[in-house]
Amino acid sequence: MPSVIFIEAGGTHHTVEVAVGQSLMQAALDNSIPGILGDCGGSCACATCHAYLDPEWGQHLPAVTENEQGLLEVVTDPNEDSRLTCQVVMTPELEGLIVRLPRSQG
Ligand code: FES
Repeated sequence: MPSVIFIEAGGTHHTVEVAVGQSLMQAALDNSIPGILGDCGGSCACATCHAYLDPEWGQHLPAVTENEQGLLEVVTDPNEDSRLTCQVVMTPELEGLIVRLPRSQG
């Protein structure tokens, strides 16, 4: 099973195995990763699953939808790596992906 590395704003690393087809948000919840709440259950309506995805994997990430883009414009501390983790589903190509958690959600 591929794995991703969640890194808290304070620097703590969590390496988590994520089943292909599972969202990063769900993987974070299943592994009690702090800072990912997933309040809307993954329907792209709350933005409590915001994180920064390392650009090295950018070519393997799904395109940002208009709905996701709208929410990313209202998160705290967005940057060019911001994504909603409920909208990113695990694939083999995302093996080793680094997901940094916003300080505001820590
Ligand atoms: Fe609500 Fe991602 S879980 S937008």
